[in-house]
Parts: sequence; C-alpha cells; structure tokens
Amino acid sequence: MRSKARFSALRIALGLAVGVLTAAAAHAAADPQLCVACHGPNGNSQNPAVPALAGQPAQFISTQLVMFREKRRVNEQMSPIAATLANADISALGKFFSTQQREAPAKKPADDVMASGKALTEKFNCVACHGAALKGQQHIPRLAGQQADYLRTQLRGFKAGTRFDMDGNMTAAAQPLGEPDIDVLAQYLSALE
Ligand code: HEC
Ligand code: HEC
Repeated sequence: MRSKARFSALRIALGLAVGVLTAAAAHAAADPQLCVACHGPNGNSQNPAVPALAGQPAQFISTQLVMFREKRRVNEQMSPIAATLANADISALGKFFSTQQREAPAKKPADDVMASGKALTEKFNCVACHGAALKGQQHIPRLAGQQADYLRTQLRGFKAGTRFDMDGNMTAAAQPLGEPDIDVLAQYLSALE
C-alpha cells in the first residue's frame, strides 16, 4: 500500500516535472538566453567561429534565421536551433540583438594592416553595400567588430560559392579577393568599432 502511494507520488512529481520542462521548451525559442550560450553575452561572441549578433541590423538577423529554418543556409550548430523558431520569435530575436551594444574590439592590428584594410574596402566597394562605417543596413550585415576568423571563413565560402547568398551580390563581390586580401580585410574589419 505504502509503496504504491509512493509510486503514484513519484509519477505525479515526474508528470509535473515533464510538464514544466515542456512549457519551458515551448517558451525557450524566443528567449535570447538560448542564443548567448554560443553567441556570447548580449550577442558579443567570444568564440572565433561564432558570429557576434549585437548591433547587427534586425532585418539581417531575422532574414538569416528564416534562411536557416528553411534549410537554405545550413550549419550543424545553428540549423537545429533555427528549426524551432516561429516567425514571431524570429522578429523578437532580431529586434533584441540589434539593440544590444557591440563591445569594443580587444585586438588592434598594426597601422599598415589597418590602412591596407581600409583601402581594400574602398577599392572593392564593400562600403557601398555594408555602409560607410561597415555597420550594415537592412538585410546587409554589419562587419565592424565581427570575429576575424568568422569573417575569413565566410569570405572564403562566398568566393568558393559554398556560403548561402540570397541575391548573389556577395558571391560576386568576393570573386576578385585573393587570400592575402581576405586576411587583411578580416583583421581590419574585426578591429573596427
Ligand atoms: C550551439 C551554438 C549556437 C546556438 C545555441 C545558437 N547559434 Fe546562431 N550560430 C551558431 C554558429 C556556429 C553560426 C555560424 C554559422 C555559419 O558558420 O554559417 C551561427 C549563426 C547565426 C546567425 C547568422 C549570423 C551572421 O552573421 O551571418 C544568426 C542570425 C544566428 N546564429 C542567430 C542565433 C539566435 C537568434 C540564436 C538563439 C535563438 C542562436 N543563433 C543560437 C551557433 C549557435
Ligand atoms: C553589392 C553589395 C555588396 C558588396 C559590394 C559587398 N557585400 Fe558583403 N554582403 C552583401 C550582402 C547582401 C550580404 C548578405 C548575404 C546573404 O547572407 O544573403 C553580405 C554578406 C557579407 C559577409 C557575411 C557576414 C556575416 O555576418 O555573415 C561578409 C563577411 C561580407 N559580406 C564582406 C564583404 C566585403 C569584405 C566586401 C568588400 C570586399 C563586401 N562584403 C562587398 C552585399 C555586399
């Protein structure tokens, strides 16, 4: 009798725990806490392979989330997360991260690297699309203060045609870049505030 009562108490407790977990999972989607584990505090990434989200245009963030969810852009870490997001979550997350302050970059490359990087962004018209301060606009991402390794990987991907690209503009823009250009651009852009 006693053990039966204990057993049903256990079942009730388990049932409640499962209920609470399911409710938590249903609400976790729009919770930026789910994102900061990888994207860093307030979207200021501390992982060279993970892009910062703080201060990215809201439209860029939400467009990319939809593209991950629709499997047009694929990444083994990011795709399963995006798969759980509803449209309302996506627009809330875009708003949230776009209004977070981007932290000032920790590293500053040598002056000659900064000067060459600036010259390359003018020569190859990066500023025409990504904005004079390279902070992005609408569906075009902010590059200023982004992780250098992430920028390098993406530029190599656009050049090779393996990085998702909505309208082909960025794939075209990456074609004339050599590996030394990509390296200088990544160092320069990551050091911009
Ligand atoms: C398990 C780690 C992980 C989690 C959790 C995660 N992300 Fe990501 N996210 C990544 C990685 C890695 C990339 C880079 C993918 C690539 O290289 O194409 C990425 C890319 C992105 C991008 C594209 C950014 C750009 O500059 O192109 C956006 C937007 C994004 N994530 C938003 C989110 C949001 C919002 C959440 C929370 C709902 C989230 N991520 C949770 C790992 C994660
Ligand atoms: C004609 C407009 C245009 C020009 C010129 C251009 N870009 Fe882009 N760039 C884009 C667009 C649009 C995207 C977003 C592509 C997408 O995900 O669909 C993008 C994406 C990127 C990304 C990916 C960033 C991220 O967070 O995922 C990098 C890096 C980048 N551009 C660097 C550059 C550099 C460096 C130059 C100059 C050499 C440049 N771009 C020139 C339009 C442009």
